[in-house]
Amino acid sequence: MTQYICMMILMMPFGVNCEANQCQRRQRWSPSGLNRTDLLCCTDDCDSNEDYSTALGYPGFEHCCTCNSQTEWSGQEKALLIEYISASGKSLVVDPDISRFNDSNLYKIEHLYGVMTEIPSDVCDWDKDPRLKVFSPHANESIKYWLHIVQIDFRSNKIRKVESLHFKNTTINLLTQLRHLDVSYNQIVSMDPACISQPTQNLFFANFSHNKLRELDITNAFTVNLICRVNYTSNIIENFVNALGFTLDKNKTYGPGYVSFHQNKIERFPDLTSLLGLSSLAEFGQLFSFEFDFDDYQLNCDCYLEPILRMGQELKDVLWRNYFNIYCANPPSFKNKKVHSLN
Ligand SMILES: *[C@@H]1O[C@H](CO)[C@@H](O)[C@H](O)[C@H]1NC(C)=O
Ligand SMILES: *[C@@H]1O[C@H](CO)[C@@H](O)[C@H](O)[C@H]1NC(C)=O
Ligand SMILES: *[C@@H]1O[C@H](CO)[C@@H](O)[C@H](O)[C@H]1NC(C)=O
Ligand SMILES: *[C@@H]1O[C@H](CO)[C@@H](O)[C@H](O)[C@H]1NC(C)=O
Ligand SMILES: *[C@@H]1O[C@H](CO)[C@@H](O)[C@H](O)[C@H]1NC(C)=O
Ligand SMILES: *[C@@H]1O[C@H](CO)[C@@H](O)[C@H](O)[C@H]1NC(C)=O
Ligand SMILES: *[C@@H]1O[C@H](CO)[C@@H](O)[C@H](O)[C@H]1NC(C)=O
Repeated sequence: MTQYICMMILMMPFGVNCEANQCQRRQRWSPSGLNRTDLLCCTDDCDSNEDYSTALGYPGFEHCCTCNSQTEWSGQEKALLIEYISASGKSLVVDPDISRFNDSNLYKIEHLYGVMTEIPSDVCDWDKDPRLKVFSPHANESIKYWLHIVQIDFRSNKIRKVESLHFKNTTINLLTQLRHLDVSYNQIVSMDPACISQPTQNLFFANFSHNKLRELDITNAFTVNLICRVNYTSNIIENFVNALGFTLDKNKTYGPGYVSFHQNKIERFPDLTSLLGLSSLAEFGQLFSFEFDFDDYQLNCDCYLEPILRMGQELKDVLWRNYFNIYCANPPSFKNKKVHSLN
């Protein structure tokens, strides 16, 4: 990556679905910085000569190729099932192919329109309920599956909390291969910090849209690895926190990635400088290439926005220009002016 772009306000066209199967030229693809060799890039779709091809919604060849990539094993994942163990919506993961765990398999769990209220109890070690041993003497066996799960789709359930996807006591992350996570249309009111940002995670798509998050930990909005799309659309997010006092490692770069915050209640651009304990926002721009999408928002155009506007000027010629579509709500003298026009 030659340039680190801090582009924070934009609106992107996500019309094209490149996972369609018409690709003619597919080649093996190893994204830099990611330890995986199972991706195939469709080079028809990503122009290697164009540094900032936004045709598919992902700027840059590297990002475009990775996020629109297919996998060699696509379609061959084995399905695991959800088995309820209580009327309150607790569940366990079961393999319908009894005790046929095979470490050359990849697994997925799809459980849509259900009544799960929690992440399954045998995911990592979050549920200490001693009765689990009664329900499933083999609950500990599920550990070996977690290293091979590539897709989780729990959309439209009643989940209230997203637990850390790793062992709390060791931070060993078991979901290193998870690529798609969809928990949209649940009732999530809280998420543990750093759910999606462990350095060992390789999550490409995460959908937390249509939930009830009021507050978002900043460590759930970006990660050191590339991440294609994180979706917090239609929550009630008002503010950002940093519960663990996370600080940026200045020897690393973060992203690239894209995070959507459409239809929330954010009135003020997050004060990233103080949230992350930085000396200036410019420092942040050097390390960070996440796009936070706040379009069609009504922001307060107060002093919090000022340093961002200044950076906006610097980045104007790169990516900023076409995507700037944000209006001020306050102060009254700026009401309904485009933030863009304030410079
Ligand atoms: C990369 O992945 C391989 C196999 O999955 C593993 O053996 C190796 O330790 C990983 N390397 C790093 C640096 O994570
Ligand atoms: C595991 O799966 C691989 C590939 O499908 C197969 O070759 C191998 O025999 C399986 N091993 C067991 C123990 O079933
Ligand atoms: C699961 O627990 C049983 C009994 O407590 C033990 O025999 C078995 O080795 C454990 N399996 C794993 C994968 O830890
Ligand atoms: C950490 O959690 C694992 C898995 O639940 C457990 O086997 C281990 O004993 C725990 N270690 C400590 C220090 O609590
Ligand atoms: C959630 O987002 C992912 C990735 O953007 C997408 O594949 C999935 O269809 C979305 N889910 C819903 C319910 O729209
Ligand atoms: C976010 O998810 C919603 C569905 O819940 C979907 O309509 C929307 O297109 C997604 N946005 C992005 C940017 O993926
Ligand atoms: C960052 O890199 C510098 C120079 O390579 C090194 O001296 C320093 O220890 C590194 N800091 C961290 C936190 O890794």
